[in-house]
Amino acid sequence: MSRILIKNIKQLIQVRDNAPLTVKGSDMAKLPVLENAWLLIEDHLISDYGLMPNMSLDEHEATQVIDATGRLVMPTWCDSHTHIVYASCRQLEFVDRIKGLTYEQIAENGGGILNSAKKLKNTSEDDLYGSAQARLDEIISMGTGAVEIKSGYGLNTESELKMLRVIKRLKQSNSIPIKATFLGAHAFPTEFKNNRSAYVDQIINEMLPQIAEQKLADYIDVFCDRGFFNPEETDRILKAGEKYGLKSKIHANELDFSQGIQVGVSNKALSVDHLEFTGDKEIEALLNSNTMPTLLPSTAFFLKLHYPPARKMIDAGLPVALSSDYNPGSSPSGNMSFVLSLACIHLNMLPEEAINAATVNSAYAMELSETHGTITRGKKANFFITKQIDNYQFIPYSFGSSVIERVFIGGKEI
Ligand code: NIG
Ligand code: FE
Repeated sequence: MSRILIKNIKQLIQVRDNAPLTVKGSDMAKLPVLENAWLLIEDHLISDYGLMPNMSLDEHEATQVIDATGRLVMPTWCDSHTHIVYASCRQLEFVDRIKGLTYEQIAENGGGILNSAKKLKNTSEDDLYGSAQARLDEIISMGTGAVEIKSGYGLNTESELKMLRVIKRLKQSNSIPIKATFLGAHAFPTEFKNNRSAYVDQIINEMLPQIAEQKLADYIDVFCDRGFFNPEETDRILKAGEKYGLKSKIHANELDFSQGIQVGVSNKALSVDHLEFTGDKEIEALLNSNTMPTLLPSTAFFLKLHYPPARKMIDAGLPVALSSDYNPGSSPSGNMSFVLSLACIHLNMLPEEAINAATVNSAYAMELSETHGTITRGKKANFFITKQIDNYQFIPYSFGSSVIERVFIGGKEI
């Protein structure tokens, strides 16, 4: 049995003997920390921890001893919303937006998601797998230890299945947990612009049965927003997914008060994501639900949208999760430390709230609460060790620089 002992940890962050499913409201500002601590990993699990003066283990009993003097240890980030399977980047649209076009105007002209779908159609499964694996390696090195990945750049049966098969391969060949989400309802293909219900029918009657039969998805998603899928279409698709046992995680209220939050809640969505347009009615709906509101501040940053009202949501008693939305159009980065910086700077979240959002609450949004998101005995040993820094507040403060020195997944250093 491998036994890794990490000693002299300056701060062991997010330590919870009994980890909660979610952290909400005023509890989000509470982050449990052990100062001057040790952590023991046995094989792939967290086995024990405590304060240095009370270390229960003789160092000679460990197969490896790591001296973390001056360093912090914390659970890896959980990133519950990404689109990292894609064929190519979209930096020319980035330039178009600098010149004044909006994200929606670019989409209406056949750019955006449709542009990604065109490229993906002509890219082989192996090439998609290779580039997605490189992105996965990149985010793991930046401290992510659990991730959700969506389809949605296929927009026809063949290409959606191709994307989901790539995600399945990624699941099989990586040690971090990966959840797959079917997002056929990401945009209407041009040929269905005037016959929207025919595309919804194709999603429901053609794509879903094959995806379910081949067990290619854990969740179903719809982009419910102005110019994309309306609440009625969203409701039809989510209900069809539920028949196949797929819980929903939806894109909602990014571009307008789209009713997406309400449709998600009424379909018992696991999470509703984006939420730039969230008012009192939306907060009320979320308060009476088990749906995790998930904020993606790097998208609001990159598209220069106004930021979601995180403060109002937390002060009303809600939990919030944070994720990267890593994708080629609206957030070409999966750097969760930067997402935390944006949450603190633009969402006015405290570092404690941002860390809870990116660990416990984001694990909940992938149904990984039992195994990930906290330093708890018996959970997976997915954690990272920082460089020498004073405290955890330094992580969001030092935006753009990497403070993560060593990453462990399932007890193995990456
Ligand atoms: O989460 N909002 C919808 N979908 C993605 C963007 C996809 C794209 O532009 O390629 C998002 O932001
Ligand atoms: Fe997204």
